[in-house]
Amino acid sequence: MATPYATCYLDGEYLPLLEARISPLDRGFLFADGVYEVVPVHRGRPFRLREHLKRLDDSLRGIRVSNPLDESGWSAVLQRLASESAARELLIYLQVTRGTEYGRNHLFPKDVKPTAFAFASPYPEPSAATLEQGLRAVTLEDIRWDRCDIKSIALLGNVLLRQEAADRGADEALLTRNGLLLEGSSSSVFLCVGGTLVTPPNSHRILPGTSRDAVLELVAGWLPCEICDVEARDIASCDEVWIASAGRGVLPVTSVNGKPVGRGGPGPLWSEMYARLQQHLDDIASTPAI
Ligand SMILES: Cc1ncc(COP(=O)(O)O)c(C=O)c1O
Repeated sequence: MATPYATCYLDGEYLPLLEARISPLDRGFLFADGVYEVVPVHRGRPFRLREHLKRLDDSLRGIRVSNPLDESGWSAVLQRLASESAARELLIYLQVTRGTEYGRNHLFPKDVKPTAFAFASPYPEPSAATLEQGLRAVTLEDIRWDRCDIKSIALLGNVLLRQEAADRGADEALLTRNGLLLEGSSSSVFLCVGGTLVTPPNSHRILPGTSRDAVLELVAGWLPCEICDVEARDIASCDEVWIASAGRGVLPVTSVNGKPVGRGGPGPLWSEMYARLQQHLDDIASTPAI
């Protein structure tokens, strides 16, 4: 990850990130009892902010924590962090935990205030080599919990899977359960099969990706699209594989488990998708984020 910008937001205050402190009794630290979002800022404008804040609300509802800020409150935090950075391309990380109690109890404590934290870092643009050659992936059996639709800060499963992929020389782990392809360790996944874009349906087994939705909107009227169960073995015969996330945009996966996908380079559909996304970001640059 790129070095973060200096200013962060913590519980209503803006302060230097290096000086921000939370208690070791915060339930985020003790139980990973919290949720997060990663909002990209492109051309100076938070991208799909309403959708990210809606998913934050859904995640908080999923763990029964009330949202410490409303839409305009979070929007103000993002605008302030973005303007402090003076950058046009950023990633803003938001985290809310159940809060800090005196002690350690599994049951929800009464009358605790959620902890809200946010900081910004430069957007990690894909390298020229990634755009020219694509990414390598491996398929791995999903070891995560059963509520992957909640964007929980309990990411140990994702961390172990991503590290396993890296140890095997790959850039991403494509996760499978019972032979079905679900998503990447930190991305949504798409297959291009005979000119149709295919992606697994939202369920408790995957995170409802904001970039996935952006891709689905941008292909409307151009590529036919099917949202359906995807067999992991279909990777062997598909033409292209893409991954999508707020932090990586839409990138081509050109080898899986050491075997080339399609012809082994970024495919023509991905190139068109990438161009459409860049155009879309230019088109909406000066429109309100919400
Ligand atoms: C497990 C998982 N799936 C999918 C995504 C993609 O979601 P988004 O496009 O909203 O970043 C992420 C992003 O971090 C993720 O961690």
